[in-house]
Amino acid sequence: MPNDSSLRNPLLAIDSLTVAFRGKPVVHELSLSIEPGQVLGLVGESGSGKSVTSLAILGLLESAAEVRGSVRFDGENLLRLRPEVMRRYRGRRIAMIFQEPMTALNPVMPVGRQIAEAIETHQPTLTRRQVRSAVIASLEAVALPEPEKRYGDYPHQFSGGQRQRILIAMALANRPQLLIADEPTTALDVTVQAQVLKLLRDLQQQFGLAMLFISHDLAVVAEVADRVAVMRHGWLLEQGSREQIFHTPRHPYTRSLLGAVPTLATNRMQPLSTLPPEAYATPGSWTEYDIGHQVRALS
Ligand SMILES: Nc1ncnc2c1ncn2[C@@H]1O[C@H](COP(=O)(O)OP(=O)(O)O)[C@@H](O)[C@H]1O
Ligand SMILES: [Mg+2]
Repeated sequence: MPNDSSLRNPLLAIDSLTVAFRGKPVVHELSLSIEPGQVLGLVGESGSGKSVTSLAILGLLESAAEVRGSVRFDGENLLRLRPEVMRRYRGRRIAMIFQEPMTALNPVMPVGRQIAEAIETHQPTLTRRQVRSAVIASLEAVALPEPEKRYGDYPHQFSGGQRQRILIAMALANRPQLLIADEPTTALDVTVQAQVLKLLRDLQQQFGLAMLFISHDLAVVAEVADRVAVMRHGWLLEQGSREQIFHTPRHPYTRSLLGAVPTLATNRMQPLSTLPPEAYATPGSWTEYDIGHQVRALS
């Protein structure tokens, strides 16, 4: 699939990325790009190569992985950077959040201190007081109640949804340009998931953040993504605007993701609030969106 990076000015441009383990490719010739402030949703069933792609971007693949192609961030090929330079990008200009908020947090360190360390690592000239107020501001930004009081609390004293908010606060504390979110709501129950998705979308707009949003669930992706890319078995099958993927999916696999659940419970039909009115113009599109919701409800 042609890369549209030559036409615009992408923040991230992945070109012909191939990742193999022991000679066996698990990502094939992948090309994708994200413009500043844009959200690209990457969707595909388990094992399709989504996490390997995100780890390749971040330079976090094990050394045995064979990586070809290029990953340009703001014009710089990340695959060619020395590890110490890459570490300066990671967490500062490119931040990440993953599925399991508990394993990503240190269980024996107060959460405020963990965010403080993330800030100090990348902004060593800040005073203690400046760091502390940056931590409080980041916790306020993710709507964690009483951040001053809870600064010294440990991860187990928070709910799963609150822990994911804390990780989002940590990820955004250094004002990155790009956030990579790999299944950020998969471990959460449906109500909390919806709140965290809304928070991510709000923050993304507030900070003009570009985002690579990864999920196995097309309905979740539809809540946040401007563009959607569909992967399977390491191949990019199609990409397009959110509306195009939902209204006129070209690839049969995308259609099967939309139609994965055969029956509809009509009393659960609810439009996706973030989609434009024309998305509901035809009965056909209604059904497609609702199927997406059903898929999420069952997954
Ligand atoms: N470190 C590794 N060594 C060997 N194979 C791996 C490794 N990491 C991932 N894979 C394989 O790569 C494929 C894609 O994995 P992954 O990117 O985690 O899928 P997804 O995130 O889409 O569920 C899978 O077949 C997985 O088994
Ligand atoms: Mg994964």
